[in-house]
Order: sequence, then C-alpha cells, then structure tokens
Amino acid sequence: MKQPDGYFITFEGIEGAGKSTQAARLYEMLKERGYPVVFTREPGGTPIGERVRSLLVDTAHPEMAAETELFLVAASRAQHLHQIIRPALGEGKIVICDRFLDATLAYQGYGRGLHLTMVREVNEIAAWNCKPDLTLLFDLDPYQAMSRVRDRRQVEEELPDRMERQNMGFYERVRKGYLDIAHEEPQRFRKFDASVGLDTLWNQVSDCVTRELSRNWGEPERLELKGFNF
Ligand code: TMP
Repeated sequence: MKQPDGYFITFEGIEGAGKSTQAARLYEMLKERGYPVVFTREPGGTPIGERVRSLLVDTAHPEMAAETELFLVAASRAQHLHQIIRPALGEGKIVICDRFLDATLAYQGYGRGLHLTMVREVNEIAAWNCKPDLTLLFDLDPYQAMSRVRDRRQVEEELPDRMERQNMGFYERVRKGYLDIAHEEPQRFRKFDASVGLDTLWNQVSDCVTRELSRNWGEPERLELKGFNF
C-alpha cells in the first residue's frame, strides 16, 4: 500500500561516491526550509539495525556467507520500516534514507552473485511494497571510489571495514547492478556523475530534489495549511 502523504527519498551508490555527505546536506537544507524531515540509514537506523550493521562490517567475520548478508540486511530493514520509516511516512514526513532496497539487489545480487529473483523476493518480504518515491544514484568509477575510501580511512586512522575489503571486480558488479536497476525504473531514479566536486554535485542534488518535491509533494507552506506542526 502506498503511504498516504509522506515522501520517501533514498540515496544509493558504491562506497566513496559521496552519497552520505549529500544526504546529510539535503537533510539540513530541507529542515531549514521548514519541511518535516527524517534522516536515517541502512543497514541501521534503529538500535537493532545498528547492531546488525556492526556485525555486517566487522572484519572478524570474513567467513560470512552471501545468504547471511542478505538476511541480515533484510532483518535490519524490517525493523527499520516497522520502527522508523512507515510511522514517519504515515505522519506525512519526508524520509531521507542512506541506502535501501536497491543496495541489496546491487550488493547481494549483482555483487555477491545471489539469484536476483531470490533477492527481490527477500526484499519484498522485508519491505512489502514500501518503495522509495525518488532514488538518487551516485555513479563513480570503483577505482576512484576506493581511493577516496582509503584516503578517508587514513584520516580517521581506521582500517577499511569488511564491506570495503572486496576486490575491484565486486565493486564493478555492484556499480553495474545499480546502473541496470536505474535503467529499469527511470521514473524513480535520478543518476549523478559523482566524479565532479562536492559543491557541484550538491548544486545538482539540491536542484533536483527541490524540483521533484515541488512537482510531486508541495511546499512547506502548503503543509502548514494542512495543519502540520513542526
Ligand atoms: P555504507 O557504505 O552506506 O556505510 O553501507 C555499509 C555497507 O553495507 C556498504 O558496504 C553496503 C552494504 N550494504 C549491503 O551490502 N546491502 C544492503 O542492502 C545495504 C543497505 C548495505
């Protein structure tokens, strides 16, 4: 069932493409403009989901099976929808989520090689029909992306996590997966070339979301008339 009045925006792309930075900026911009907005992420977004995330990225578990990954991200998602996403959309809020269903198809399906039909079915069980209204895909060459991840980890003085330790072939497949999925659903996806500078990218992202929101959802003033309290 489509949520009544909320608007669901997801950010996707391989590690290092800059999606989390852009998602955080979008959250700040919409909040400043007076929109009722929630910012969350997957895996994670709830105390249970954050524990799942820790397990997923833990370098102590190189033995993790692809199927285990699939069920872990699905479990995190089921809880996230139950606790955060559906309630917020039900209250008419804008939900910005850093990764969602498409990440599972791209990483566990294309990346790990699990059967795409099976991944779609598991996605369906976890999310039963809750689809984003708008998905921003940040596309970047994996070599460039991984060099950004390495630089970031050096600054943080941390080693790459389990998901960041895959070979280039893995990220190439994930990237292709995202591009295929976006191609199948052009009405939902907007693709960005993430090799441009952060501020150029931000201008494109903010223009795009501003346009989509005013076309499909409305202005904050309209919401005040509807009696929203924020
Ligand atoms: P992050 O890069 O957004 O911090 O996400 C953490 C990792 O989780 C990233 O390597 C991608 C991975 N992931 C999956 O493999 N499947 C999923 O369904 C999701 C949501 C994330």
